[in-house]
Amino acid sequence: MEKFVINGGKPLKGEVLISGAKNAAVAILPAVMLAESSCIIENLPQISDVAAILRVMKHLGAEIRMINKTTVEIDPSHINSFIVTKEMSESMRASSYFLGALLGRLKRARVAPPGGCNFGVRPLDQHIKGFEILGAKMAIENGMLDGRAATLKGASIYLDVVSVGATINIMLAAVKAKGLTVIENAAKEPHIVDLANFLNSMGANIMGAGTSTIKIRGVDKLSGVTYSIIPDQIEAGTYMAAAVATKGDVLVNNVTPKHLESIIAKLREMGAEIQEFDEAVRVTMRTRPKKCNVKTMPHPGFPTDMQPQIATVLTVADGTSIVTEGVWDSRFRYIDQLTLMGANVQVDGRTAVIAGVKELTPAPVEAVDLRAGAAMIIAGLMSKGITEIHNVIYIDRGYENIVEKFSRLGADIKRVTVLDDNVVYKQA
Ligand code: EPZ
Repeated sequence: MEKFVINGGKPLKGEVLISGAKNAAVAILPAVMLAESSCIIENLPQISDVAAILRVMKHLGAEIRMINKTTVEIDPSHINSFIVTKEMSESMRASSYFLGALLGRLKRARVAPPGGCNFGVRPLDQHIKGFEILGAKMAIENGMLDGRAATLKGASIYLDVVSVGATINIMLAAVKAKGLTVIENAAKEPHIVDLANFLNSMGANIMGAGTSTIKIRGVDKLSGVTYSIIPDQIEAGTYMAAAVATKGDVLVNNVTPKHLESIIAKLREMGAEIQEFDEAVRVTMRTRPKKCNVKTMPHPGFPTDMQPQIATVLTVADGTSIVTEGVWDSRFRYIDQLTLMGANVQVDGRTAVIAGVKELTPAPVEAVDLRAGAAMIIAGLMSKGITEIHNVIYIDRGYENIVEKFSRLGADIKRVTVLDDNVVYKQA
């Protein structure tokens, strides 16, 4: 077991390099299975969710060769299995993308229900509805989601909720279906556009990604290509929020500022100075944050995956802020941890009322999920003294070299392996 130990209270200063986007990578890797020949995927984040996806692909018969730490060559031509077991599936949410990718490739898929962060009920009804409208027969057998189709035929699919996962899964299943598929009320996140760009570069015919209507004209085959994944907007937003929280001055490199608009707007409202460059943003904070209300929404709204980080900064704002979660039922579980550090927050359903305190005080806390874990790091960095964060396995799912990146910005943060009562310090 590992924990992070932070001696906080120091402003972050310097530069940080943002990695490839987790939520694009976990869709693009399964999409490689739709190609007839090898793909080279660049700018892959080195995180445990990516490692888990690659393990599943290897098990299904793909040949995987790491060219360097962030580039992989995948030959999908020998994929011969359609089964993703519980052991393979339960560590990550994105395992559901194997349903769409395997249906698209083999017209057959059997995938255990996905795991991942717990935000309450995480249904797949819109994914399943989409596959059925395309002509697949879906069933639950022995606790596994089972899909089969003689052929998949393009059709019109209206999503009852704006779902990133359902939009991606339907794109994966439809890209080689016969005829035209139209997804209405589609999600518009940057990773959906990235997936469409990747599939189009392989020969797919997808129009409208990034709008609420995506049109997919099925093609017979897709060919292998070299493709580079977009930068991670949430990783970037996390370092930006940390810069604001610690009254720092940080240049965040390798970002697409357009993808950060809603985050930039809210941090500016809180008093941050933000300069935008072609592929970087500089965040400078000189004062105590101002109060600010935030409501999370599907893109281009404020991302739910930045909600815990921004709420954590607001715990020390001058005044009372209201944070409303517009995507997930239960994404405030981490507030109990912030309360241990002296935050004054009342949660009522999907709303948190945050009365700013002057400062947080260190305490042992837990990462209750991936982004909540990042929020705990921000809380530790902004409070003077030693904060311990347990359960960091969640954080490693989605943040590449987070200890090293914060250390380079001047943070005093260490990864510590806990062996019974003995504590062994690892390299930062
Ligand atoms: C993706 O999850 C991301 N995960 C999540 O990021 C992110 O929080 C979420 O999108 C929203 O942006 C990945 O990309 C791997 P959804 P996903 O389907 O696809 C409801 C992170 O921290 N819904 O857009 O699972 C659902 O309950 C992770 O990086 C249905 O009702 O999210 C939720 O309220 C955590 N039926 C809403 O839609 C369905 O069939 C949005 O979920 C599907 C979803």
